Order: sequence, then C-alpha cells, then structure tokens
Amino acid sequence: MPVSSPAAALAALEAHRVEIAHHHLRDLFAADPTRAQRYRVELDDLLFDYSKHRATDVTLGHLISLARAVKLEDSRAALFAGEAVNTTEERAALHMALRNFGPAMQANGEEVTALVRKERNRLYDFARGIRDGQILTAKGERFAHIVNIGIGGSDLGPAMAARALSPFVQEGLSAHFVSNVDGADLSDTLKLIDPSRALFIISSKTFTTQETMANARSARALLVKNLGEAAIADHFAAVSTKLDLVAEFGIAPTRVFAMWDWVGGRYSMWSSIGLALAILIGPDHFEDFLRGGFDIDRHFQDAPVESNIPILMGLLGAWYRNVWGYGSHAVIPYDQRLARFPAYLQQLDMESNGKSVTREGKPVTLATAPVIWGEPGTNGQHAFFQMLHQGTDIVPVDFIVAAQPIQADAEHHALLVANCLAQSEALMNGRTQAEIEAVLSRQGMSATQIARLAPHKVFAGNRPSSTIIYERLNPRNLGRLVALYEHKVFVQSVIWNINAFDQWGVELGKEVCNSLAPIVADKTASLGNLNPSTAALIAWRRRFMP
Ligand code: F6P
Repeated sequence: MPVSSPAAALAALEAHRVEIAHHHLRDLFAADPTRAQRYRVELDDLLFDYSKHRATDVTLGHLISLARAVKLEDSRAALFAGEAVNTTEERAALHMALRNFGPAMQANGEEVTALVRKERNRLYDFARGIRDGQILTAKGERFAHIVNIGIGGSDLGPAMAARALSPFVQEGLSAHFVSNVDGADLSDTLKLIDPSRALFIISSKTFTTQETMANARSARALLVKNLGEAAIADHFAAVSTKLDLVAEFGIAPTRVFAMWDWVGGRYSMWSSIGLALAILIGPDHFEDFLRGGFDIDRHFQDAPVESNIPILMGLLGAWYRNVWGYGSHAVIPYDQRLARFPAYLQQLDMESNGKSVTREGKPVTLATAPVIWGEPGTNGQHAFFQMLHQGTDIVPVDFIVAAQPIQADAEHHALLVANCLAQSEALMNGRTQAEIEAVLSRQGMSATQIARLAPHKVFAGNRPSSTIIYERLNPRNLGRLVALYEHKVFVQSVIWNINAFDQWGVELGKEVCNSLAPIVADKTASLGNLNPSTAALIAWRRRFMP
C-alpha cells in the first residue's frame, strides 16, 4: 500500500476508522479464529498480545504505511548511529550505548563503548565493595541503608526498579529514595534509617537541580552534626556530568561516577544513575537488567515492522491518539512491585513527547503525548476501573503481568493473573442489554425491575488493550519492559515529528520559582512587582507565618 506522505497515511487511517467504527471486537474474534495467534509477538519468554485492539489487517497495513511515510526506519538508524537527534541541545540520545553488548557505538561521532565499560566497571567495583563489606562506614561498620537523593530521571527509574526487583536486593541492605524538596521526604526517610550506617548517593546529571541540592545539603549537614566533617568522605557518593560541582560539594573523586550529556535524564537508569540499584541487586543482576535492554534494542532494530513490538505499541498508540482522539492511556501492571512503573512512564512518555512544536519549531498539527497513568491491579479495579468499563471516555490500556511469581504465594498469583485476564476480556467483550436481561431474569427479577436495572448493567465493551506477559519479573524482563516503552515513545515522536529528548517545558516554572523563593521565605519582602494572583496567595500565607 504505497503512501506518499504522513498526511495521506493519516487521511487513509481516518477513512478506515469510519469504515470499521461499527465493528465490535467480539465480531473481529468471531470472524477470525486465528486472531489471538496472529496478533501477538513472542520474544523469548515475553509475549506482546495486541489482539484486543480495534484493528484489522487493513488497519495494520495503514499503520505500517504511516511508519513508512514518516521514514521511521531512517530515524531509528539516526538514533542508533548516535546522530544529534536532540536537535535543540545538539546532542545524541544514546542510552542504548549504556546497555550495548554488541559492536562499539558512537555519540556525535565519538566512540563511547570503551568509556561506558570503564565507568561501569568502576561502579561495579564500588557496588561490590559496599555489598561485600570491603567498603565500610566511618565507624567501620557495614552499610545498611542506600539513600538515593535525586529527582525526575535521577530518581524514578532506580526507585521503580529497586521496588520491582526487591527479591533480588541483598539481605541487610534497605533502599530509600528521597526526591521531593518537601522536607518531609528527607525527614521521614531519616526516621527509617540509622544515618551512621547510610550511604547517601547524590544523583544529578546537572548537579544544580534545586530539590536535589537542597536535600543533599540537608543530608550533609545532618551527617556532619552526627559524625563530623570527616565522615562525608565515607558516607557520600555522587553521579553527575558536572564533576567540578561534585568536587566543590566535597565528595571524594573515587566516589564520583560519571555520565554523559548524550544520556537524557529520563533515559539514564542504565548509566551510573543506576548506582543505587547496582549496589542493591548487585552487578550480576544489574548486568542482566542491561541485557534485557539490549535484547529490545536488537529487536527494535532487526524485527520487521509488522512484528516489532515497540513499533506496534507506538503505531497503535498513534491510532487511538490521532485518529480516534483518545486523550489518555492507562498502564496497569498486575504486579505490586511495579507500583512505581506508571509514575516512571509518566516522565518517560510525557516529558519526552509532551510537545507542541515540531522538530523544525512549527506548531504541530497532530495531538501529541496522551496522559499516561495507572496503578497496580488489582487495586485499580476498586478505584478507577468503573470509568474504564462504563465511562464516556475510552482509555486504551496496557496490562502487564508475570506468568509466575517470585517470592509470592502461587495461589495468590493465580488469582492475580485471573483478574488481569478478566479485566481485559470484560473491557473487550462488554455485556449486551439482552445478556444482562437474561441474567437478571434467571435471578428471578420482575420485568419492571429488569427494565429499571438493565441499562445500568450494560457494558458496551469494544474497549482496547494490549497484554504484556513474561515468565517472571526478573532483572532481564524489567530491562526489556523499560526499553520497550523507551522505543515506543521514540516511535511516536517520529510520527509526530517532535524532539523526544529535550524538555524546555520544565524551565519556566523553575525560573519563576527562583525569583519567588526569596519573597516567599521573607515575610517583609515587597509583593509589589508580582502578579496579583500570586501576590494575594503569598499575602494569605503570611498570615500564618511567625
Ligand atoms: O524535570 C526536569 C529534569 O531536567 C529532568 O529531565 C531530569 O530527569 C530531572 O530534572 C533531574 O535533573 P538532574 O539529574 O540534572 O538533577
């Protein structure tokens, strides 16, 4: 199906949507007994099932035409070649080099594989030292608490992964992640630990982020108060690109781990930003996590478009966002340990693709990033699933589940899996008026009661979802999961012709905050130059200031 331009491909999709709008997923399954087998991709022990989407072979053909029209394969090649795909910052986005077990890779023309390996080996040596008790606290004891201080990409990935992989965390080590400038975050964490047995890792690519530096200074002050200035060398480590600023903060060079400007913050958990995780789960498991990412890099590069999981995820997402007009996308892991995965994806997806100008700086003509949200199942079922099943908005869902549990009861796990499958089936099939009337009649209800209740108990169904199922949530499968979503986000950025790797939208608020902070802190500061709304709010707050 040759298509000349993205606009033509989208127009074809729009016309096709009108044609299939009346098709129900039930009918698509009834018409094709092989659908469940055909609309899936297997990758080792991981299965991506996309059979419950409002898509036919014709839809997929049009979506693949869209991928061709936007020259997805050329953009993918540029990404992996380390070209400066982050055009506004003139940088490569080469997080794949951090998990590369293949031929050397280059960022902006510079070979980086050796650099990455060298830094990772330093990091592994340090991680082993902490785990084995070769590296001890100022008092000569073993470290018991790993406290990562960072925010955004310097927090969400490691925090999500440390929880996801908690069965792999070394006994005797506890994991803590402090991110919020709200002092409650640090002080509540400090209540859980003995600071004299804590390693504080300051994770910040720029080493200037307000929240991280405020928390780092407070943690430092606490440690100096309890253990004296000399203890800083033993109890602090850092990860940054700004080695000079880290040195100024007083962290020993042997405890500082580098990253590079071609690693975007939200793509950085594979880099030294993974230090806390590497200490907690150990270098061997961390290596497996990297291998999972590498599996997906190869799959993304090598698999044909029609069986390429991140490309299918990206295309189906664009189908709903741009052709059906759906504004949000839910990710529901049936896995309590993936509780932070939706929050992690919010940054990955929305900070990457929440853009309204094209790569050339012109207004976009297509809707970009949908709202990404979610909570683990089964908890979500007792909260927002009502809306997913019967609300007026349709929300495509990704269900994520492991076939087998790790350190969890097998009977519970069978129930968990049953719930996951039941929800996607119910969303897909729904329940017709006739079906519910028959059920109510069997329950002995009168015709009047049935007429009154039935409309409330009808489920339209036809609500789309994907299911990702893998054997177990081990480091390798977590690595695969993360990299699948990274590349899905990239695929969508190519469809929308936006730069997925900058984040100018976070700057304005930071600037305004910098000018407001002294005025908020000082009760006597003039409010004269502020806008009336902000001034009125500050004035109100002042009534409660001592
Ligand atoms: O939220 C903006 C942001 O720049 C993110 O992109 C980044 O992950 C986060 O802040 C933290 O930045 P840093 O690692 O430099 O402290």
